[in-house]
Amino acid sequence: MSDLEFFLFLLSSVFALFLIFNVIKAKQNTLNLPPGTMGWPFIGETIGYLKPYSATSVGEFMEQHISRFGKIFKSHLFGGPTIVSADAELNKFILQNEGRLFECSYPRSIGGILGKWSMLVLVGDMHRDMRIISLNFLSNARLKTHLLPEVEKQTLLVLSSWKDNSTFCAQDEAKKFTFNLMAKHIMSLDPGEAETEQLKKEYITFMKGVVSPPLNFPGTAYRKALNSRSTILKFIERKMEERVWKMKEGRESLEDDDLLGWVLKHSNLSKEQILDLVLSLLFAGHETSSVAIALAIYFLQACPTAVHQLTEEHVGIVKAKKQSGESPELTWDDYRKMEFTQCVINETLRYGNVVRFLHRKAIKDVRYKGYDIPRGWKVLPVIAAVHLDSSHFDRPQRFDPWRWQNNGGSSSSSGATVNNNYMPFGGGPRLCAGSELAKLEMALFIHHLVLNFRWELADADQAFAFPFVDFPKGLPVKVHRHTLNH
Ligand code: HEM
Repeated sequence: MSDLEFFLFLLSSVFALFLIFNVIKAKQNTLNLPPGTMGWPFIGETIGYLKPYSATSVGEFMEQHISRFGKIFKSHLFGGPTIVSADAELNKFILQNEGRLFECSYPRSIGGILGKWSMLVLVGDMHRDMRIISLNFLSNARLKTHLLPEVEKQTLLVLSSWKDNSTFCAQDEAKKFTFNLMAKHIMSLDPGEAETEQLKKEYITFMKGVVSPPLNFPGTAYRKALNSRSTILKFIERKMEERVWKMKEGRESLEDDDLLGWVLKHSNLSKEQILDLVLSLLFAGHETSSVAIALAIYFLQACPTAVHQLTEEHVGIVKAKKQSGESPELTWDDYRKMEFTQCVINETLRYGNVVRFLHRKAIKDVRYKGYDIPRGWKVLPVIAAVHLDSSHFDRPQRFDPWRWQNNGGSSSSSGATVNNNYMPFGGGPRLCAGSELAKLEMALFIHHLVLNFRWELADADQAFAFPFVDFPKGLPVKVHRHTLNH
């Protein structure tokens, strides 16, 4: 290519880019996009959006943007133009139209760390297949037969280590409980054993990377997490090979008591797919539930009336079991009697918002309430903003478990039905696969907690959204053992 030809090529390329840019701009000018600001080039408004804030609020960014632009606004977040929704109707519309108008779209760094076969990243048929496996494994039948006794056992194990008048970080204890439960349930690992503790250590490093900026350089939390991911996967792979080997040797039949055995026996997944599934379930099932339990401990210490009512409910359940000569282990029927406890769980998830927003993108041009949502734009349904919206929940800044009594969720004085707007587990075809397990874990933990302890904050602490919810000091509590008359 001569110099002149090269120059002409360069000129025409610049001209073509200019044209494309103007066509896109002209198209956007004809669209009725929601109001909003796009912030700085490349980073947009991401830094403001991710600035930590109290978990029981929507945060300064959302507050300011909602009051300036309304509940649906445009922005530039996580590297792309974005429609942010604090609108209950739009949020439902987005989640119900998964696969038709919108699609799950988590940042690429999440896929890098959780794996390309992780359920959070998959879409379409492959997501459906993985979801069926998870739902089967977390079915109500398994919850009753396998999970309930295990949840109670792991709760008692953690609580029995709490000494009278001792002080510790409640968040760590909640994490210990949910990790042990998932490790047992997924790979039949027993708490306290060397390999379980080793896995827990790797997992902590892994988690730090999931929530850190995706900077893949030596020494960064993200790089360390990628290394931990490989170590954890090697561990799971070894466990998998042991099972298959024992089966081939005829020493053991393949049991489906845990997830690993279940997928080996009932699915045609490849080794790589099984590894990512196991890792993503460990992640999905451990982090969220432990935060939810820590939040319940935190909200309840500030609400003695709720603790009193909970205590009455749980003493009643124990007394009834004794009177009818039943063994002390909790049953599904006992769980079903924990009605006020369910109100406390609902309110904890509404007020604390373990998962604050979801990542989606528009896969078609969408028109909603007169606004255009262009194909390819990111869409963030902010479920926390609806839970803290006074037009849906009466006095949303109050921890009020009683709002869930009678009509299953209507806000207490306004009478508006709130059930529809309560979405702590997401919604539509990607509704949390472990929501029933999460509620069971919380209920059984609360049962043994109120029966055996009183507790108070040992140091001031508060839940923050980073945007993942965390207690900066780990929620230090002082506990006092008590024996109730039951
Ligand atoms: C309080 C505790 C929990 C909360 C608040 C929670 C919340 C959520 C939310 C909001 C989603 C939807 C994500 C999206 O649409 O992008 C989700 C998905 C999921 N959760 Fe949970 N979760 C909790 C506990 C659990 C537990 C204990 C498990 C069990 C292993 C679990 C397994 C899953 C799975 C597998 C998915 C993916 C579902 C799919 O893509 O089809 N979660 N969770």
